[in-house]
Amino acid sequence: MNNATGMPQSAVVIGGTSEIAQAILRALAARRLQSVVLTGRDSSHLGEVATDLRSLGVAHVETLVFDVTDVAHCRSVAAKALALLGDSSPAGSSGGIDLVLVAAGMLGDQPGDEADPIAAADVLTTNFTGPAATMLEFAGILHSQGHGRMVVLSSVAGVRVRRENFVYGSSKAGLDAFATGLSSALAGTGASVMIVRPGFVATRMTAGMAPAPFATTADAVAADVLRGLERSSPIVWSPPVLRKVFAVARLVPEPLWRKVGR
Ligand SMILES: NC(=O)c1ccc[n+]([C@@H]2O[C@H](COP(=O)([O-])OP(=O)(O)OC[C@H]3O[C@@H](n4cnc5c(N)ncnc54)[C@H](OP(=O)(O)O)[C@@H]3O)[C@@H](O)[C@H]2O)c1
Repeated sequence: MNNATGMPQSAVVIGGTSEIAQAILRALAARRLQSVVLTGRDSSHLGEVATDLRSLGVAHVETLVFDVTDVAHCRSVAAKALALLGDSSPAGSSGGIDLVLVAAGMLGDQPGDEADPIAAADVLTTNFTGPAATMLEFAGILHSQGHGRMVVLSSVAGVRVRRENFVYGSSKAGLDAFATGLSSALAGTGASVMIVRPGFVATRMTAGMAPAPFATTADAVAADVLRGLERSSPIVWSPPVLRKVFAVARLVPEPLWRKVGR
């Protein structure tokens, strides 16, 4: 269950080496996060993130190797994560998973992806199919518990898809729509979904790229996410001004969007 400050005590992260996820976890560590299960592909990198979190006072940090495209294993990973967090819960507490943070994703290489359907399918599976299947597994656990929040890192790239990155953008549009539907499916169960729509964030994913307007940092996204958790917001734009920007962008006719959305 959430602690006295309204923040989660336990969390599972899909894409535990993500720089945005790490910023969110550091911010939650300062708000008394107790137990974390980090999942991801790279066990040594996960180990480094785990060490960092322990140094910030998170008492119990475990890692699980999980490639999000390996949907056949999402059920067993969710069960293992639940068991690990159950084992770590203090005596007398109800345990369980307070937060599932879905951060796994890849930008891809748009020209290369347009030329290679297998590369394009990899982006779509990594950003949409794999996370969606994994979210269903964890949603089942949160539903059974009757509490818990799923925080999904979507993107403004999926709100109005641009010609320049439509493979990535469409994968995020799919993820965002799936998360919206899952949020409706969980209504009234005590479990819920929060969709996070960042703009350009300076992380290794965008390294070497020219910053887009309203570019932000992983720490600023983390602050927006914590504010969203405090307010039980269903959707968080980061930075918040993007909500208004994309309310207009959604209405721009496609021929004009091709010019201004570059
Ligand atoms: N940076 C931005 O401008 C921005 C903007 C909007 C939304 N987002 C979204 O925010 C999320 C986090 O991005 P970030 O900026 O923190 O970038 P990042 O540091 O590159 O994080 C991406 C994460 O996805 C993981 N990942 C990639 N493929 C995976 C797979 N097949 N299985 C499991 N994990 C996989 C990576 O793991 P490895 O360490 O194994 O590579 C890494 O943990 C992503 O979903 C991204 O689309 C980012």
